[in-house]
Amino acid sequence: PPARALIRMVRDAERVVVFTGAGISTECGIPDFRSPGGLWTKYRPIEFQDYMSSAQMRAEAWRRKFAMEPAFRAARPGRGHNAIAHLVRIGKVRNVITQNIDNLHQMSGVPENRVIELHGNATYAHCLDCGLRHEIDDIRMAFEATGEAPGCRACGGIVKTATVSFGQAMPQEEMLRAEAATEDCDLFLAIGSSLVVYPAAGFPLMAKRNGARLVILNREATDLDPYADLVVSDDIGSVLEPLSTLNN
Ligand code: OAD
Ligand code: ZN
Repeated sequence: PPARALIRMVRDAERVVVFTGAGISTECGIPDFRSPGGLWTKYRPIEFQDYMSSAQMRAEAWRRKFAMEPAFRAARPGRGHNAIAHLVRIGKVRNVITQNIDNLHQMSGVPENRVIELHGNATYAHCLDCGLRHEIDDIRMAFEATGEAPGCRACGGIVKTATVSFGQAMPQEEMLRAEAATEDCDLFLAIGSSLVVYPAAGFPLMAKRNGARLVILNREATDLDPYADLVVSDDIGSVLEPLSTLNN
């Protein structure tokens, strides 16, 4: 069965890169984007330009953020996160490249310097002008008091969750680190992503071009399935859990 083949490929590999999307966190109570019930089936994304150009859009973005906050707060790493953390601990996995903004890889024990966040992190906010960090709770209290998202307390600039929105520049350092990790791996595991959002979804084929084997683990088919050495169309938690006992 495909899940067994996956375990064998991980056992045989030396330098694994894990690449994750929202599908790894659904069992933790965080909805993904494109499945039934996913975020983009309820909302239209607020693009960066919208956020920058209208206080109304900023207020709407913060209302959405606060609505999801209880689920985010309650979320703990799932079986997939824990298995990956184990593979990092035994030295099998070098880097975790993630599109996720939920901080769950770090929470599962993967050292911060091994997690490459392509789309940022939603557990805090920052000023787009001076970079000062702002806590979500402080913004929520100000928002509740005034009905408006507050400006930066240092410079008055626009404050935004530390995530990358559509239309916003990718973080340069993370892109370079992801490239280096991808070029250096012998096995690339793409887990829980529909693989439709670029440039992030370019990494699986970059790995292939560099001679790595490619595994796609996702409930639904993706456009990149034809390029994969192995496609596992199953539940992430159940498939990855057995990897938690791998020795080397
Ligand atoms: P998607 O919602 O596009 O894809 C998640 C995939 O995970 C879907 O194909 C699901 O079928 C699958 N899935 C969900 N739960 C699963 C489970 N328990 N087992 C197996 N498969 C499961 O999410 P991403 O690919 O992460 O970016 O989305 C990519 C980017 O689009 C996000 O980073 C975000 C979004 O817009 C920005 O907003 C910039
Ligand atoms: Zn500022």
